[in-house]
Amino acid sequence: MNDIMTLSQKADALEAKMARELDYIVIKSRLYSMAEGDLGPAPNAGELMRKNPNARVLMGDDPRLPAMPDKPTLMDFFKYRFGPCMHLLQSARHAVRADLPEKMVLACLLHDISTIGFIRGDHGYWGAQLVEPYVDEEVTWAIRAHQVLRFYPDESVGYEYPQSYITSFGAEYRPDSYIEEDYKRMRNHKWYMAGRQITVHDIYSFDPNVHPELEEFEDVIGRNFKQPEQGLGFDNSPVAHMWRAMIRPAKYL
Ligand SMILES: [Fe+2]
Ligand SMILES: [Fe+2]
Repeated sequence: MNDIMTLSQKADALEAKMARELDYIVIKSRLYSMAEGDLGPAPNAGELMRKNPNARVLMGDDPRLPAMPDKPTLMDFFKYRFGPCMHLLQSARHAVRADLPEKMVLACLLHDISTIGFIRGDHGYWGAQLVEPYVDEEVTWAIRAHQVLRFYPDESVGYEYPQSYITSFGAEYRPDSYIEEDYKRMRNHKWYMAGRQITVHDIYSFDPNVHPELEEFEDVIGRNFKQPEQGLGFDNSPVAHMWRAMIRPAKYL
């Protein structure tokens, strides 16, 4: 019987087995399934619960992920949710060495938080939105802009089109037209240089032997990131739900 099970039957069987073993059921958000190229319907939660009457869909903390404090700080997200952040630490360290103002060090430290914690595509826009209520307006602007400006050289600061983009996207790749249009707007903006500075310090390893620690930037964060008292996700800000999505990424509703 097992031999003739299709892949999707096998997946269903595995899911049912998991549901029997666990007392919670994970129904992934549509965005996660689409990222797997899966346009099928979501698993039927009711049916899964019939197979294991003790199981419930996930509405509380996700037992598979580290527990978060009740009032999570930015540091907690780095520790318990974000992926490896060496690139951001190196970028921030590079900015320190270049004597950039502290808020730009923070901008470098946070420029890719969407990539390491939330959504990759349009990570500059998402990242800017995540931090907007908590940082200087120019920092938000620069984080949004860096993703766009990365595609465009600027000889005045020695910034060239990244070799890694040629390798990753192909030599013929051209940015989407909305990026092109945003570039034209950003090029003439009063904060252009702030966004550009992130691209200059957006380096992958200026010294592979240097491994800065997040704690090194704790004071910079403390002085430049308005940590909400109630914790990120619970401060009733316009982006609180986005932070909650990282705390409980598989919450059913
Ligand atoms: Fe980036
Ligand atoms: Fe980056």
